[in-house]
Amino acid sequence: MCGIIGYVGQADSERPLEVAREALARLQYRGYDSAGVVVANSRGLHHVKKAGKLSVLEEALAATPLPPATAVIGHTRWATHGGPTDRNAHPHLSADGSVAVVHNGILENHQALREELASAGVEFLSETDTEVAAHLLARAYDGLGDLPEAMRAVARRLEGAFTLLAVAADNPHLVVGARRTSPLVVGLGEGENFLGSDVAAFVARTNRALELGEDQVVAITATGVMVTDFDGQAVEPREFTVDWDASAAVKGGFATFMEKEIHDQPQAVRDTLLGRMTPSGRMRLDELRVEESLLRSVDKIVVIACGTAAYAGHVAKYAIEHWCRIPVEVELAHEFRYRDPVVNAKMLVVAISQSGETMDTIMAIRHAREQGAKVLAVVNTMGSTIARESDAALYTHAGPEVAVASTKAFLAQITATYLLGLYLAQLRGTMFPDEVRSILRELEQMPAKVQRVIDGEAAIKALAVQMKDTSSVLFLGRHVGYPVAMEGALKLKELAYIHAEGFAAGELKHGPIALIDQGQAVFVVVPSPKGRDVLHDKVLSNIQEVRARGARTLVVAEEGDDAVAQHADTVFWVPQTPTLLAPLVAVVPLQIFACALATAKGLDVDQPRNLAKSVTVE
Ligand code: AGP
Repeated sequence: MCGIIGYVGQADSERPLEVAREALARLQYRGYDSAGVVVANSRGLHHVKKAGKLSVLEEALAATPLPPATAVIGHTRWATHGGPTDRNAHPHLSADGSVAVVHNGILENHQALREELASAGVEFLSETDTEVAAHLLARAYDGLGDLPEAMRAVARRLEGAFTLLAVAADNPHLVVGARRTSPLVVGLGEGENFLGSDVAAFVARTNRALELGEDQVVAITATGVMVTDFDGQAVEPREFTVDWDASAAVKGGFATFMEKEIHDQPQAVRDTLLGRMTPSGRMRLDELRVEESLLRSVDKIVVIACGTAAYAGHVAKYAIEHWCRIPVEVELAHEFRYRDPVVNAKMLVVAISQSGETMDTIMAIRHAREQGAKVLAVVNTMGSTIARESDAALYTHAGPEVAVASTKAFLAQITATYLLGLYLAQLRGTMFPDEVRSILRELEQMPAKVQRVIDGEAAIKALAVQMKDTSSVLFLGRHVGYPVAMEGALKLKELAYIHAEGFAAGELKHGPIALIDQGQAVFVVVPSPKGRDVLHDKVLSNIQEVRARGARTLVVAEEGDDAVAQHADTVFWVPQTPTLLAPLVAVVPLQIFACALATAKGLDVDQPRNLAKSVTVE
């Protein structure tokens, strides 16, 4: 997820760079590990790009000011292919400097295209998928002489999700964009026009915007906008007025990043799945750099993580053990290092971390590596310490997670560990290819199912407001519902400062049932009635046990599970899913509930008291 700005205005002025700098500052929430701009004037293209925060780019611009210009494209990056370095920062220019490109998304077929270009003598300067587009566009432009037509020709060859913006050295009066799946909107000004990855890029300058559809190319000049499909057929985009102010625009129109990121979850799952399957339906994890021989011989997996990431690890345990028949242990990083663990070279450590900077996890993986284990990081931040210090990395593509309490990263972590489990099962032959493909197909349906739960948020929010004075909430779950219960409790603790406890439903009679009193709120995550139905019936019994003692039962259950309704005071229905994939939908009502209850209490859900987004101390 990256921030993109494009602009064309009056010839040879300071305004293009001003617009770009202002836009990139607003778009940092979409990515901030590197940034760059390229301006176009009658003397060609002039660019500056730097790894690091936007301030590093600003310093570079102060040291080497760019000339007055007519057009600009700019980019603030959240790395997906190639770490955050100067060379990998956008824009990317063609070898002859004739065109420059910025990109948001993932080009699934970048490797094949890179090989094709390399065999034609193209030398690559970066590790990014984006640079492929720059070279392809220059070759098409050289042949066609028309930048929009060249962009259409290139877009037709690309697979995956992308928003591309391009500017040409010989035509500073034009910026061209193309989008597939990744966002791109047009801002309409007076004698100037804008392109942005979202309206936050230009809402301070104009509130008139055009919505672009799937597989479309847009060309803007200072006085005109032309939109076509990838085949060149003209399209009439819908104009709309942005009624958000700049601050709301950065949050996608939501009041908080927390709400925005809950709503970002379908896209986070979709992006994490992108490019993970070959056309023949086999799994591929390009960035995984652990020898296949080791992955075949591993006889134990130890997941190391903290907090929400650890609960994602617990979900992974159920899935990987079932698919791969490898024992999986989940260890809290801060406990692992100090308990003198048995570690050896046949163990694969999987470190899960959104930030990649959690010191407890860093110290734990260092300890594991010293003891001879290979470490695979499941991490959301490219170039982070955990990614760099691991033997391999499997990236979640949740985009920057700004709210301190983790939501979309949690779903992306679960998704990534499912992919790891399926990849291991394929490699070790513990599942047939058609079984792997079948589960991948189910996973591809999960973003839409998560969206359906989010679409029903109004009822959940209304209940949360009613319950805002609650002082204690219990969360029960079995099987993969157990880590979901733990995560639901953590969200309520973090956001609403309410004592909440999650535990395995089977543990109830071993003590916790003593907590049940009249009106005690108890959330119960009910497993699918079709999966492990014996578990379903046991959880139903648990609901009856607590209700018989006065509990208020709030149940998360699959649509159609009629047996539940009679025992529940409230049911949060979620779409039917295969048992092991259920956490992706079951946790969403709990996230929405915690966020809404905290909001009803007037609390800061983006930055809860006492918490840091990344715990960089032990
Ligand atoms: C999640 O809501 C919390 N903010 C916290 O538990 C977090 O998951 C934990 O600190 C691990 O962070 P990481 O994923 O960045 O390593």
